[in-house]
Amino acid sequence: MSIPYLFPALLMLHLTGLVFMAGTTLVDYLAYSSLWRSFNQNERPQALLEVMNKFRGLIGIGAATLVLSGIGMMILTKGVFGEQLWFRIKFGLVVLIILNGLLVGRRQGTKLRRALAIGGLVFTDEIQHIKSRLGRFHLLQLLLFLLIIFLSAFKFN
Ligand code: HEM
Repeated sequence: MSIPYLFPALLMLHLTGLVFMAGTTLVDYLAYSSLWRSFNQNERPQALLEVMNKFRGLIGIGAATLVLSGIGMMILTKGVFGEQLWFRIKFGLVVLIILNGLLVGRRQGTKLRRALAIGGLVFTDEIQHIKSRLGRFHLLQLLLFLLIIFLSAFKFN
């Protein structure tokens, strides 16, 4: 038995999750750019850091919505997309987004917050390393989102 409108409803959730996850990643990148500039001034950007702490949760909600709605659509279509080349490539890119997020973005963010709590707003070599890694992290993450959107739009097989 099929439930009418369930597929479009899941697709709507999927796209909402995409907006949350990719949008927050872009805003996170912009917030970090402001944070690096504040090392030149001597005031701790408390309000900015507090807002940035909320981004993790939003990215997590977006990721969970994307994955669950994606799995839902796969179940409804009995895995038909899994046989198509664009979808297989997309799936590999999704795994990369998740790994990059957990292994690089989250880790470096935690390291930075720890370093700021201990040493304050002092631009050390360690902070320089974290800055470069986070720069590469954001660039890769946004590129992967763009590639997935490209694949989903053209759906070549
Ligand atoms: C970062 C993760 C993801 C992003 C950015 C993403 C993005 C997209 C986009 C832009 C579409 C196109 C919607 C349209 O055709 O109008 C789409 C469709 C779809 N996605 Fe994802 N997706 C992600 C993860 C997943 C996962 C993990 C699955 C499955 C387990 C999945 C399954 C699907 C399916 C089945 C469709 C419908 C394709 C169609 O109707 O032709 N997605 N996705």
